[in-house]
Amino acid sequence: MSDSANTIDALQWENRRFPPSEEFKQQALVTGTFMYDDAAADDEGFWARQAADLLDWNSEWSTICEWNLPFAKWFVGGTLNVSYNCLDRHVLAGRGDKVAFHWEGEPGDSRTITYADLLAETQRFANVLKGLGVTTGDRVNIYLPMIPEAAVAMLACARIGAAHSVVFGGFSAHSLRDRINDAEAKVLITADGGYRRGEVFALKPVADEALADTPSITDVVVVRRGGNDVEMQDGRDHWYHDLMATADADCPAEPMDSEQLLFLLYTSGTTGKPKGIMHTSGGYLTQVAFTHKYVFDLHDDDVYWCTADVGWITGHSYIVYGPLANGATQVMYEGVPNFPGNDRFWAIIAKYGVTKFYTAPTAIRTFMKWGTQEPAKHDLSSLQVLGSVGEPINPEAWMWYHEHIGGGRCPIVDTWWQTETGGVMISPLPGATTTKPGSATFPLPGIGMEVVDENGARIERGGGYLTLTRPWPSMLRGIWGDPQRYAETYWGRFDGRYFAGDGAKLDDDGYLWLLGRVDDVMNVSGHRISTTEVESALVAHPSVAEAAVVGANDATTGQAIIAYVTLRGGATVDEQDLRQFVGEEIGHIAKPKTIYFTQELPKTRSGKIMRRLLRDVAEGRNLGDTSTLADANVVAELQRRAAETASED
Ligand code: WT7
Repeated sequence: MSDSANTIDALQWENRRFPPSEEFKQQALVTGTFMYDDAAADDEGFWARQAADLLDWNSEWSTICEWNLPFAKWFVGGTLNVSYNCLDRHVLAGRGDKVAFHWEGEPGDSRTITYADLLAETQRFANVLKGLGVTTGDRVNIYLPMIPEAAVAMLACARIGAAHSVVFGGFSAHSLRDRINDAEAKVLITADGGYRRGEVFALKPVADEALADTPSITDVVVVRRGGNDVEMQDGRDHWYHDLMATADADCPAEPMDSEQLLFLLYTSGTTGKPKGIMHTSGGYLTQVAFTHKYVFDLHDDDVYWCTADVGWITGHSYIVYGPLANGATQVMYEGVPNFPGNDRFWAIIAKYGVTKFYTAPTAIRTFMKWGTQEPAKHDLSSLQVLGSVGEPINPEAWMWYHEHIGGGRCPIVDTWWQTETGGVMISPLPGATTTKPGSATFPLPGIGMEVVDENGARIERGGGYLTLTRPWPSMLRGIWGDPQRYAETYWGRFDGRYFAGDGAKLDDDGYLWLLGRVDDVMNVSGHRISTTEVESALVAHPSVAEAAVVGANDATTGQAIIAYVTLRGGATVDEQDLRQFVGEEIGHIAKPKTIYFTQELPKTRSGKIMRRLLRDVAEGRNLGDTSTLADANVVAELQRRAAETASED
């Protein structure tokens, strides 16, 4: 064990413990340590048993895992169809009438979609895609609100072996255009608009702006949802309902290679250009089905609700693929948590009798702000397990979630993972693990994880870097079009290890505590936004000369974006206009909360911007070492301004 005292500070220790109750254990799928022991004895064999147990294969694999660092293949030679596993086999087993989605629109409309319905719709839409010339290996872009057609579109792609690339509906035209062009997608699936906070937000007009500069797109399919006016371009644009009306009802599921590309999902990186994270079929589906089943202790009569958007990895893995592979009944909700009132989520839980609930710490902190009277208005006694994902959940928020949502009786599963890991990696198993508020506890069975110091030496206690020591079935297979960047970004920092970019600490009992990211990527409401992307957007404004962006702790959103901007000589710009500009450039979630205009940015003598100092300033801390600073006056001035802003809040 190395001396790790200075790797990452470990300041806070939490000693409250919550063992699973006897009552919970009695019905739990996993208690005790058998599953951990089983996996520890032979992790590849363990994953092979999960793949065989949880999925239907058309032909068996010859090799469980082929590992040529940093490139992995799982279940090599095996074939399966992902959409068959999510749909057909449940219907064939007589479960066609089971509800797949209780869909709740924001205005209060709803739809009940059974597995038989979802299969029928998916087959038709797969034929629509075929009719538009989409074949195995093509990419299809999806830019939709939270409506069932999003799941249909994804499953239809999977059915015919086309890879989807879903772009979150809150992203701007520029972001959509860049992602379409990087993937060279053939078809775009979008909607006229969707509902958000009581109003229709337009998607098709935004897509049209992107489509002005996306040469690979031949056809656009438009779902009618918002009812807003849209322009349809002759020959290119088609209404979903028109195409579906004439599409053939049968589209048999063809076996696909286990390593067939299932999807690309773009995530921000430190160097600005978004990375198209690649996920494939057999290994991915195995791990998301496994984790969804055991982390949420899934039973046949559960009503499961994950509040994420399908535009993020959480929506891919824990709304579409994991739950549907397990034949679960879910709630899918279109809108925001505060429409029409601040109790909408709790009303939905009571309405559908939700048993398993999965949300993000940023949402939980917002609910805390809104007050306990909101959940108290509704009967939440159906709840059994509560999940958290996206950022560290602070002990206070954990306790609030436990008490006011879980009625003191529901285990909380704090699940650590990433777009790149595809599925959950670190989490309690609710019937087996004694939890501590704020700790993600232990790696799941079959996962190799170690915390290391600067030099890559293993740490057994204290803070360090979170690394993964061996391949896992749902790991990313690469970055689209850039294998070199993949190797450098994830496998370059520590020899033979995947470095997740996160800091973590281990306490005396070996519990893991995530400390956030060690690089510059910010986490705002659970979304990863690179400082570089926001800086580039700011500098794209004609009045802006230079910008530095940092994520500062924020009670509601986890981190808030604080920007320091230097204007071009003689230029002026209004703060609100500049925020708006960033929103248009890269999406509303990337708008800085506060922008400070400054004559000068703090830089090292070699000219590098000192983000660490800016973060200290933004968070009102005393400054540490400023000796490398080119001009100390710059920081003093920024500090004075930050203090002024804080007193205005
Ligand atoms: C980053 C991944 C995983 C789906 C949502 C975000 C942070 C995620 C936790 C957690 C502490 C967490 C990490 C990670 N993160 N879950 N339970 N505790 N931090 O996916 O956008 O790829 O972000 O989110 O920093 O690296 P993502």
